[in-house]
Amino acid sequence: MDPDHGRVHGKVVVVTGAARGQGAAEAAALAREGALVVAADVAEPERPYGPGVTARRLDVTDAASWAELAGWLRETHGRVDGLVNNAGITWRARLDEVTQADLARVHAVNVTGPLLGIQHLSPLMPPGSSIVNVGSAAALTAHYPVAYTTSKWALRGLSAAASLELGPRGIRVNTVHPGFIETPMTASAAPAFRAATLAETPLGRAGTVEDVAPLVVFLISGESSYITGAEIPVDGGYTAHGGAKSVSDALRGTGPLSAGRSAG
Ligand SMILES: NC(=O)c1ccc[n+]([C@@H]2O[C@H](COP(=O)([O-])OP(=O)(O)OC[C@H]3O[C@@H](n4cnc5c(N)ncnc54)[C@H](O)[C@@H]3O)[C@@H](O)[C@H]2O)c1
Repeated sequence: MDPDHGRVHGKVVVVTGAARGQGAAEAAALAREGALVVAADVAEPERPYGPGVTARRLDVTDAASWAELAGWLRETHGRVDGLVNNAGITWRARLDEVTQADLARVHAVNVTGPLLGIQHLSPLMPPGSSIVNVGSAAALTAHYPVAYTTSKWALRGLSAAASLELGPRGIRVNTVHPGFIETPMTASAAPAFRAATLAETPLGRAGTVEDVAPLVVFLISGESSYITGAEIPVDGGYTAHGGAKSVSDALRGTGPLSAGRSAG
């Protein structure tokens, strides 16, 4: 793609958590389509960014860090057209072991981070701007890690409130909900989690960062100009069947719970 004729040509877009994983892929995809991307993270990038991407250090939990970024954006570009609230952390403690400190730490990144981002950058956004929040299949299900799941459900509420509040200013707010995506975050998951999740995924494979990035580009671009307050899973169908897949597989005789073929 020639960035000069890209789908987000000339847009100034901040992507948080862009040092690796999905954020890095989203930053690269937006830059390929002509955006001036600000890749913001607490960590150094795993790989050097390509053309069109500028790295900035940002701790999404810290209001002063956001204020500094907003000041730099005002000076450098005078505006922001897009914000991708992608930075997130997980914590795999279950109900009986999760602590208040776990809850506070995870919510600080996954909920307070996007809130601070919206508060600090939306004043710089002209009509036509777009905010994308990165939720999770955990935001649509009873996913077992309590701090992570509650944080992503809370992010849905923030997205809905923000889309209502910012709509009259012509700023759109949408949420993407990735399923199991191959990144450093899922590389640390238990093999049983991976296998059980893929068994519930109709497309039968893990997602890649390249499955998510094009949706983010679409939501930042003017192609989605009448879409706001929407929530879009990118999960191979994981959240669409409401638990019916294991039943369907068992009756067909293909799932782990099947005891041979049945007419049931
Ligand atoms: N990988 C998956 O299967 C999956 C599934 C559903 C949702 N998600 C969500 O997608 C998003 C990206 O996940 P990923 O898999 O690429 O994760 P990742 O762990 O590979 O990358 C997350 C990035 O966020 C950064 N980050 C963490 N805390 C930060 C902070 N305080 N300030 C700034 N940056 C910070 C990290 O340094 C890292 O670069 C997250 O919001 C995650 O919850 C991931």
